[in-house]
Amino acid sequence: MKAELKPVEWKNNLVVILDQTLLPFREEYIKTSDYREVVSAIRRLAVRGAPAIGIAAAYAVAAGAHNFQGRGVLSFIKNIYRIIQALADSRPTARNLFWVLERLQKIVNEGQTVADMRRALVNEAQQIHEEQIVTDRYISQLGAKLFERGGAILTHCNAGALATGGFGTALGVIKQAYAEGKAITVIATETRPLLQGARLTAFELQKAGIPFTLITDSMAGSFMRQGKIQAVITGADRIASNGDTANKIGTYSLAVLAKEHGIPFYVAAPMSTVDLSIASGQDIIIEERPADEVTTLGGTRIVKRGVKVANPAFDMPPHEYITAIVTENGIMRGEYEKGFAKSRQ
Ligand code: MRU
Repeated sequence: MKAELKPVEWKNNLVVILDQTLLPFREEYIKTSDYREVVSAIRRLAVRGAPAIGIAAAYAVAAGAHNFQGRGVLSFIKNIYRIIQALADSRPTARNLFWVLERLQKIVNEGQTVADMRRALVNEAQQIHEEQIVTDRYISQLGAKLFERGGAILTHCNAGALATGGFGTALGVIKQAYAEGKAITVIATETRPLLQGARLTAFELQKAGIPFTLITDSMAGSFMRQGKIQAVITGADRIASNGDTANKIGTYSLAVLAKEHGIPFYVAAPMSTVDLSIASGQDIIIEERPADEVTTLGGTRIVKRGVKVANPAFDMPPHEYITAIVTENGIMRGEYEKGFAKSRQ
């Protein structure tokens, strides 16, 4: 099997981030021990995708702990709290970021000495990354069972290795199904405004040698009507207890279209994306991003100045539009509240 792309790594006590804003044409890495650079990388989507954001944040805290030069336990704790707060303020929607920060905060809350906390924070960050790699494999193997009959599978945005630091979730399922010899092809949506589908999913699929067709977002409905799509699978940024799922803007339209055309709509995500503290998607904060992401394309202005722009980064298919959710613990079809509670035990 080919080596996976590594969106984020911990190397020689530095956080190493593959700058995804430059893909697919340039593979350049940010190497830093400064959490502020990681915050900026998350904000400008140099590292993106819910699990990869969490891992980058974990390594940013590890770097902060490793490089602490002050004196005393209190000063160390204050420093780590400041780093955690800055990372928490980077992007609001992906549950994984907060799940990671809560894990790291617990270590600081319970820590005794600087040396112990430093070691524990670095270990925990590496552990979080390793867990994601294993989780991706489970999700991919379980999810591949959904595609026994093959066909054209549509995926939106990028939920591959670049988004998770492992094998991928939604794209991991697709890669696994293909590796098992299932007769699948892929339809990748370009994913406006930042083109994660065209730039990143197409890049990953090409590297993996999986046959695919790139379409613009607005082509999906017409393709479904013509019988050119047999299933949809996407990742998730945050899933509420009832199964309502926030994911890249455009996911809601795809779920509605899939229902209208009798096509299954699947979500693949780790349990670390599930937020049991919220009952429904109503409580999910949807990130609003800068207008220039819409008014420019590849750095060129395509809209006259003064035009009012909206740019929500995510939307939310309600649970009734979702045929099944695949996590590392199994495939759930409806009754998500019960299913999540059970799989947490
Ligand atoms: O804005 P992005 O590129 O971070 O959005 C990413 C997505 O919407 C992904 O589908 C989601 O994070 C799942 S990644 C496994």
